[in-house]
Amino acid sequence: MDMPTLTIGTRTARLPIVQGGMAVRISLSPLAAAVADAGGIGVIAGSGLTPKELTAQVHAARAVTDGVIGVNIMVAVSNFKQLVHAAIAAGVDLVIAGAGFSRDVFGWCQEAGVEMVPIVGSERVAKLSQRFGASAVIVEGYEAGGHLGTDELMLELLPRITDSVDLPVIGAGGVVTGADIKRALDAGAAGVQMGSRFAATVESSAPDAFKEMYVRATDDDIIITKSPVGLPGRAIRNPLTERLAVGDYPPIERCVTCLKACGKEYCIMDKLVRAQGGDLTDGLVFAGSSAARVHDIPTVQVLMDRLAAEWRTAGEGAAS
Ligand SMILES: Cc1cc2nc3c(=O)[nH]c(=O)nc-3n(C[C@H](O)[C@H](O)[C@H](O)COP(=O)(O)O)c2cc1C
Repeated sequence: MDMPTLTIGTRTARLPIVQGGMAVRISLSPLAAAVADAGGIGVIAGSGLTPKELTAQVHAARAVTDGVIGVNIMVAVSNFKQLVHAAIAAGVDLVIAGAGFSRDVFGWCQEAGVEMVPIVGSERVAKLSQRFGASAVIVEGYEAGGHLGTDELMLELLPRITDSVDLPVIGAGGVVTGADIKRALDAGAAGVQMGSRFAATVESSAPDAFKEMYVRATDDDIIITKSPVGLPGRAIRNPLTERLAVGDYPPIERCVTCLKACGKEYCIMDKLVRAQGGDLTDGLVFAGSSAARVHDIPTVQVLMDRLAAEWRTAGEGAAS
């Protein structure tokens, strides 16, 4: 049996696969367009971009695909409102908002006919999102890469969220194979969001050395670190995370107040930008625990075909 489609409000993707937004500049138009073209939902990460840059990214994706394109913007960034408005004006299908909760974004999206999809970590926030008009919710478990809003695993959280709302629920965290997708859908998810697996694809805008770190990573290399956003973050161990672990914070060279509230231990934006630029000593390489199960750097199309084949095999195994 083939994978089911994923409908979020008025938009339908052929496959139940959302490519997670990955900042700074890891998921840009090349990755998002390739995923959308292959039948999933492609997501451009807006955090760390200017509204003008985000507009250009959305236009670039739109120019090459008719598939479903979203943006992911952290509520915690200072220019959240400007970025959401830029994305809507540029013609995105959906806005995904995480790392905080914004009431206003629901109204901005509804007015424009754009689907609003918050990332939630509890039944309370899922219910609140439904009340404000969310088209779907993403449940991100503790396995996920980047900032973490919960210490529960995705498959523990998922059934409680599906029971508490009458919306499509998308499971994120620890999904790298078609069998993982099947497990999440069997547990009640309408789709999955995958970050780490897509970070190590040809179309990802991560530098090659960053992708190679994923391919080489073992479970022991993937650690939890502190972020000035006020949430823990999951990343691959490197000289920077070793420093952060002992409280040896690199001084902030230039603050542009990129976050609404910043702990100011160090500059997270600088460290994410450095990693994307290829500095893997002093840059922060966000990755999910599942990065230890990423062993190659395929094109998006090869990956999507593989996921579909693995899904079918997992289904046959379950049926026999
Ligand atoms: C390099 C990287 C950057 C990320 N940046 C963001 C981000 O900007 N906003 C966000 O909501 N989630 C971000 N995430 C989380 C992903 O969108 C996704 O939910 C998560 O990676 C799912 O877990 P997985 O990596 O096990 O697939 C990031 C993840 C990674 C690996």
